[in-house]
Amino acid sequence: MPVTNFEFPEKYRYQNGFNSYLESEAVPGALPIGHNSPQKPPLGLYAEKLSGTAFTAPRHENKQSWLYRILPSCSHPPFTPLEPPSPDQFEQQPAKLHYIPNQLRWDPFDHNPETDFVSGLRLVAGAGDPTLKQGLGIYIYAAGRSMSTTSAFYSADGDLLIVAQDGVLDIRTELGYLLVRPMEICVIPRGIRYQVYLPAGPARGYALELYQGHFTLPELGPIGSNGLANPRDFQSPVASFTPDHGTTASDGPTSYTITAKFNNTLFTTAQPHTPFDVVAWHGTYHPYKYDLGRFNTIGSISFDHPDPSIFTVLTAPSDHPGTAVADFVIFPPRWLVAEDTFRPPWYHRNTMSEFMGLIAGAYDAKRAGAGGFVPGGASLHNVMSGHGPDAASYEGARAAGLAPVKVGDGSCAFMFESCLMVGVTAWGLQACEKVQTGYSQHSWGGVKVHWTGEAGGEARGHLLDG
Ligand SMILES: [Fe+2]
Repeated sequence: MPVTNFEFPEKYRYQNGFNSYLESEAVPGALPIGHNSPQKPPLGLYAEKLSGTAFTAPRHENKQSWLYRILPSCSHPPFTPLEPPSPDQFEQQPAKLHYIPNQLRWDPFDHNPETDFVSGLRLVAGAGDPTLKQGLGIYIYAAGRSMSTTSAFYSADGDLLIVAQDGVLDIRTELGYLLVRPMEICVIPRGIRYQVYLPAGPARGYALELYQGHFTLPELGPIGSNGLANPRDFQSPVASFTPDHGTTASDGPTSYTITAKFNNTLFTTAQPHTPFDVVAWHGTYHPYKYDLGRFNTIGSISFDHPDPSIFTVLTAPSDHPGTAVADFVIFPPRWLVAEDTFRPPWYHRNTMSEFMGLIAGAYDAKRAGAGGFVPGGASLHNVMSGHGPDAASYEGARAAGLAPVKVGDGSCAFMFESCLMVGVTAWGLQACEKVQTGYSQHSWGGVKVHWTGEAGGEARGHLLDG
């Protein structure tokens, strides 16, 4: 069901539609009509172009927005590395990542009262390299306090998909506000500056940074023209600004700090004027949110269940059709009705890597015990690492009656699936102190032999009779 458990302040008004050409003005007349860069834009604003793709990208991929702001974003003193640096925050260099074939599972990651959204962001696993615009980073965030109202953050490394798990994020972006509650996600595109407030206390969740390309909706094929995540349910902000500035870009005390994530290193600068001075904008490059409760889940009504790609909310394609650098997949509440079918996920080994998290409730392929797979925790089944239901889940599903049953009520697991092998950071493997020991043994050590054939000897294949 859609998320409704938070009062909806007036400042959250949205424009609907995925990948739409949108426009918004906070002051009537601020948007130039029929013109992107007039000699003198309305109201004395500066026109600034924000490119999310190469200028010459094909139309269906092209993402550009025009911002009309009080001062251009270039007007700031030089960035300097953040001091003191946090060596374990974004340890991304591929040589420092740990590539291991074992199945991994994490207990819920700690809340942290000392951090805000930026200082509380930790890279757990990743692949590729932001300098080459290839790959992705998988993060946990834990924020105990709001960012300062005079601060802003942006990442030059990629688009950030945020999966709220616990606590509410009130995100002010250059292009307007987004309220993101548990069971909602948002995407903040590369380069867009934002602040994160915590209107309902501490927050924790997951994030995926996409170093290459952008998320899009999966093709629907024979499903047809509707289903899964529908385009109209994606919401983008309306323009909002604060007119706090001197008479020039360097006039006044340097009250506003800008923190940049650039090749997984944080840099900072301070400027006298607010970065949230975009009075109007139009274009296709903008942040958006989505309520996972609106996902139109589709499955089998006969036998067997489809591949979990049927649960894809957003996909980030590689250069090879049908193969994703990152898929964002959810396992929401749904009816299982398939006849003569093992209903939980099958045992499998995939060429894709699978990082899973749990937003709420319990996941139907894992029962409790040995720490379990619980909200705020995670698991990683890397390239060709075998996994599937734990022994208790298998036995339960093998013996279960096959009347229609609803699974996952009040629950939602998700997966960041990638065609890339992901490495785990030292923080993810050790410093976070959440890796469960004995995950594999607990889950699959007790899997029983059900074989009913002959014991001993070697049997060879034969041709099946017509
Ligand atoms: Fe899997």
